[in-house]
Amino acid sequence: MPVVPPRSERLESQATVPSQRGVKDMATSPKSRVAERIAQLAATAASQNTAAAVPGTGISSPVAEISRDTVQPKLERTGAKIKERAHPDRLKQDYLNYLFWLHEFVLDPPTEQLFFVPTKKRVRLANLTIRSHNREHGHDYRPTPCKLFEWVLGAIEYDFSRLTFVDHGAGKGRVLLLASEHPFQAIGGIEFAEELHDDAIMNIQQYPRSRMKCRNVECVLGDASEVGPPEGETLHYFFSPFSREVFAEVLHNIVVSYRQKPRRLYVVLIDPPEVADLMEKSGAFMRLELPLQQRLKMRLFSPYEVVLYRSLA
Ligand SMILES: C[S@@+](CC[C@H](N)C(=O)[O-])C[C@H]1O[C@@H](n2cnc3c(N)ncnc32)[C@H](O)[C@@H]1O
Repeated sequence: MPVVPPRSERLESQATVPSQRGVKDMATSPKSRVAERIAQLAATAASQNTAAAVPGTGISSPVAEISRDTVQPKLERTGAKIKERAHPDRLKQDYLNYLFWLHEFVLDPPTEQLFFVPTKKRVRLANLTIRSHNREHGHDYRPTPCKLFEWVLGAIEYDFSRLTFVDHGAGKGRVLLLASEHPFQAIGGIEFAEELHDDAIMNIQQYPRSRMKCRNVECVLGDASEVGPPEGETLHYFFSPFSREVFAEVLHNIVVSYRQKPRRLYVVLIDPPEVADLMEKSGAFMRLELPLQQRLKMRLFSPYEVVLYRSLA
């Protein structure tokens, strides 16, 4: 007798299997388990909704609970942060920080690599050897941004070969060497901190000669208020080296020399203390407006204020 039923019988018996298994099997099938789980979740959600009703609205939703207890305070905190960040003072400070970063890490490096002793780091005067009664009036060392120096020189419309360039508070000599790439008649720096002065000397000795249009560069160790100004036409450069009191002494020396021999002088002030009144009272200088191109560059990209004066002669 054949073990396998004929094909027609087989199909018929397979087709009837589910119905024959009946309701008992359905209760344990995956589909029914999912349905059961959904029912459980719905019951839980319903009980939560009742607890989270929005007062006075009759709205019952899990969202109500989330917004009241968690989202709303978060939104308030975020709103306060945005408000603080968008405050004009804060935006100004952020932009200033960005400009410092731009100069130090993007614009300065190509030139900075030319110095034998790096010039980019700030140095506190507190730990340096300074034999001057003006020690307490001195400001810490920080370098002029290289591009800013170029913009400043670009604002002076005069034949540089007629001028001596003097950096009052020369630091490590960065500005002296940037100036040496222009055809000044002579370039001199005065620095009162011995360690900085030594670095400046080293940098002057090692700077690539091929870049120097003026090789008559020196840096003296001393106090700027005790070194007399050159007799000829001069560009006096001050990057916030000292207090208003010391500036008044240095300016006095310059003005006395000018009165003896009226001549073309320039005074460049970078990030100056409040000295506009001293310049005005001197009766020897007038403030120059920077040419439009330089003015725009400095407005947009200088982290420091730049003020330019010219002698009346
Ligand atoms: C802000 S740094 C400027 C450095 C450099 N001129 C430049 O622009 O890169 C000021 C420098 O002035 C020097 N200094 C401060 N008071 C001074 C004084 N009375 N005589 C000479 N140098 C002084 C400090 O030691 C410091 O190196």
